Amino acid sequence: MNIPEEVGKFTQIFNGLMALMRRFIFRVLRAGPIPNHISFIMDGNRRFAKKHNLESVHAGHRAGFISVTYVLQYCKEIGVPYVTLYAFGFDNFKREPEEVKCLMDLMLEKVELTIEQAISGNLKGVRVIFAGDLNSLNERFRASAQRLMEITEENRDLIIVVCVAYSTSREIVHAVRESCVRKSDDGNCNVVMELNDIEKYMYTSVVPDPDIVIRTGGGDRLSNFMIWQTSKSLLHTTAALWPELGLWHLVWAILKFQRLQGYLQKKQKLD
Ligand code: IPE
Ligand code: MG
Repeated sequence: MNIPEEVGKFTQIFNGLMALMRRFIFRVLRAGPIPNHISFIMDGNRRFAKKHNLESVHAGHRAGFISVTYVLQYCKEIGVPYVTLYAFGFDNFKREPEEVKCLMDLMLEKVELTIEQAISGNLKGVRVIFAGDLNSLNERFRASAQRLMEITEENRDLIIVVCVAYSTSREIVHAVRESCVRKSDDGNCNVVMELNDIEKYMYTSVVPDPDIVIRTGGGDRLSNFMIWQTSKSLLHTTAALWPELGLWHLVWAILKFQRLQGYLQKKQKLD
């Protein structure tokens, strides 16, 4: 056997052992309540690039995209039905055009790859939904996002909401506008608005409110992310930068959710 073959064999054995270990850990974790919906504020890609002397911030973002794949795989294995990813905030458009382009290109690459996986039957039960001001994105991205949403529409094992060009402020404005237009016969906004009229037209109305928001990169803010939907969610912050988020961070966050179950349920009943 030559060296590449040996390395390949070793990697295969190692991955198999890791998968076995995860199965065991997740089985233990499932003895307690599993969050129905986890939201991730993915922060720290550029700091990761700097910390590891990568050639550019782009490499940091690329590392962040690899992390997304792993985290989603873990969530699926644990049995979390809904995951939301804050992939690109509306304010991120204010970054250098070159960085915005890099993020858009990476997202497009990922979307196109996921379409291929879905077509070849390798996505296994995963539904992808894009939420945000999608009209502000370029035509090619919009078309690919739309296609991915359509071909995964029937899947129910894991529902992933990717928030792109998203901010809660814009989401609320969009929902109010939309419900005004729908409620008034002639486009006149002189109508009585109820809470559920607005909620119906939120970008993220397809998913229940998050149980946990996990923010990486050490920040303690929600950064205009699902502010309306997270009043009762547990906020878990970790100093780990997004590309560093691993299995143990996720397990730790879920254990914290389980430990605070009584408190969270009491709070939900009181509000
Ligand atoms: C998050 O990481 C990337 C996006 C979701 C756009 P950052 O690019 O904000 O990285 P830091 O926080 O500056 O390190
Ligand atoms: Mg940041």
